[in-house]
Amino acid sequence: MSGGEAVATEADFSCLSMPQAQGLGAVQARLVDRIKRAALRRLHRSPRGERLLLRMYLAGEDATERTLLEDLLPQSPPWLERQVQQHLADERRHVTLFADALRGLGDDGSVRLEPDWLSRRKIRRWQRLAHRYAAHFEHGLLVPAYATGLCAEQMAQRVLSRHCAVIGTGHELYPLLSRVLADEKAHVRLCENTLRRIVAPHESVHLDLLLKDIRAVDASFGVTGALAMYIAGWVLGGVGSAAR
Ligand SMILES: [Fe+2]
Ligand SMILES: [Fe+2]
Repeated sequence: MSGGEAVATEADFSCLSMPQAQGLGAVQARLVDRIKRAALRRLHRSPRGERLLLRMYLAGEDATERTLLEDLLPQSPPWLERQVQQHLADERRHVTLFADALRGLGDDGSVRLEPDWLSRRKIRRWQRLAHRYAAHFEHGLLVPAYATGLCAEQMAQRVLSRHCAVIGTGHELYPLLSRVLADEKAHVRLCENTLRRIVAPHESVHLDLLLKDIRAVDASFGVTGALAMYIAGWVLGGVGSAAR
């Protein structure tokens, strides 16, 4: 999708909120949610499945920490540095929390993990979008970086909300997941507020298009990711609590 020709007459930031899926998109979103809920229930049947879930979270938090450190911090103006440092501290705490939880389940959570190949492909496509859109903004690549960050934090909020709902408040992992969820909700607000500050009113139309493209990339991996998770659940959780 191109940057478009339209010029906004006033700032419209309604694009920051997650849009309600319509039509086929809504059907796909419901399907992905149902498959992932089933996969979560299966993975929780075995310690190996639970360790895989925690490792996936650890890889995600680790990748977020690296993105903040390597991409966002170097290009942040001085007035944003403190905020990025605080965000970085939160994500580092999440890495520690998931690594500790993994060790509690008998895994060595100290190993630095790479995102899986699906996530790496998604990140590469997001990076290409960032470079395509950067010229539309006075703050250049900083805007696509925060737009991608917003979508990633919204995704984390969606994933953790689903997970908390599936396991319920009585589960031993609930305090950890709900604590991280509260932070990710705060990060969504932080990314939204930052985008309102760094995107000029006449640039908001390009932000709208950029966010649509970022979310389209995310959605294009939805079914594949859900099926991969379900297959992992079937393999690791299928034989019940005897699997270790
Ligand atoms: Fe996090
Ligand atoms: Fe976050």
